[in-house]
Amino acid sequence: MLKKRVEKALNTQANAELWSAHLYLSMSLQFSSEGLNGFAAWMRGQYSEEVQHAFKIMRFMVERGAKPTLSEIKDIPVDFGSPVEVFEFALEHETKVTDNIDKLVDLIREENDKATEYALQWFVTEQVEEESTLVGIIEKLKRIGDGAGLYLLDKELAARQ
Ligand code: FEO
Repeated sequence: MLKKRVEKALNTQANAELWSAHLYLSMSLQFSSEGLNGFAAWMRGQYSEEVQHAFKIMRFMVERGAKPTLSEIKDIPVDFGSPVEVFEFALEHETKVTDNIDKLVDLIREENDKATEYALQWFVTEQVEEESTLVGIIEKLKRIGDGAGLYLLDKELAARQ
């Protein structure tokens, strides 16, 4: 069984993952409306990953005898600016997510819940990858500017599995 404090914190994080999913869906819609279909597809991939993150936490909660509950998803931004600004927004967001995951691990350590701490290690590692991928795309966007390079990067990002 999960302690109530841990259950509440995990539920908050699961809902935050769903909020992230909608953030990326919103970014995908912006790219679609601008004809940048590769960028849009990449952001849809990000959307799916975030939904999986939420499921991962919720499945774990159920395994430990808790019942996850969904919160309302509010205040999703809709206009992010240029492609580089979209990805900078995403990076800033993921930096906050990393901070939240770190705080969650601290809370779980305080509660001495080893199984949950172990499960959360996956998220700690995932955040390293998330931030690094976004930094890589931002660097490319800054190097190529708005010309033909943007078209090539759009093609590259379309290939995301
Ligand atoms: Fe679920 Fe982007 O971290």
